Amino acid sequence: MSPDVSQAQAARALLAFWRAAGVDMDEAEAVYAAAPAKSGPPAPSPAARRPARAPAVQAPLDAAKAAAAAASSIAQLGAAVEAFEGCGLKSTARTTVFADGVEGARVLLLGEAPGKEEDEQGKPFVGRPGQLLDRMLAVIGLDRRSNLLISNTIFWRPPGDRPPTQGEIASCLPFAERLVALAKPDLVILAGGAAAQAMLKRDETVGKMRGRRLAYTREGMELPPVNAMVMLHPSYLLRRPQEKRQAWGDLLALDAWLDELGVARAPRP
Ligand code: URA
Repeated sequence: MSPDVSQAQAARALLAFWRAAGVDMDEAEAVYAAAPAKSGPPAPSPAARRPARAPAVQAPLDAAKAAAAAASSIAQLGAAVEAFEGCGLKSTARTTVFADGVEGARVLLLGEAPGKEEDEQGKPFVGRPGQLLDRMLAVIGLDRRSNLLISNTIFWRPPGDRPPTQGEIASCLPFAERLVALAKPDLVILAGGAAAQAMLKRDETVGKMRGRRLAYTREGMELPPVNAMVMLHPSYLLRRPQEKRQAWGDLLALDAWLDELGVARAPRP
């Protein structure tokens, strides 16, 4: 093996190590994506390789958009997410975590990203935050076994539960957007600031967005704007139980809107 090849392999292994450790490696990997795999003419300088960066980032995005658009049912969309290879998180996750609950429910909840338990079980919101979420939503008569569909804006667990990078969010977003288009909910609940920012394309904090009557829309969307409300994320509430008063406020705001929308719900506990 020539020194060039072994050096490139070592560099790639190092990049994979740092990504698995939770460091955003999009930029560095884009440079290495253009590096020759075999020995040959001397490698171009990093500056000369830089033009390869745009396709490296754009290609997964285009692939995600095409795969999402081709799905004409929620089941097909789940299969498309499962088959998608354009998000780097897939290589470190055990499973793809797509959706749980009732297809055709009038309420869709989107969270951020799977954690350890979700990764193990392949289902969204099954760990401690998910159990808290279930208890909170039961208070307003929402239940994934009868009238709720639950998913995330990211479909693979980020290593060490680090925040997803902008590239990872972008490569998953077409699927989350297609889920809204196929589910046609009367109301989409966005749990936490990250999900809200990605879906609503707003740069505000969760504190600014939560509890307000907002609208989710996209250019060229076949549906009219979809009602959207942001709530505090249950993981945040586990870390800061003192915020439960605000969480109660979110639930009351959701309850009132669901009443006005005439969404049938289970008897309250
Ligand atoms: N947090 C999320 O946002 N989603 C899950 O599925 C689990 C925890």
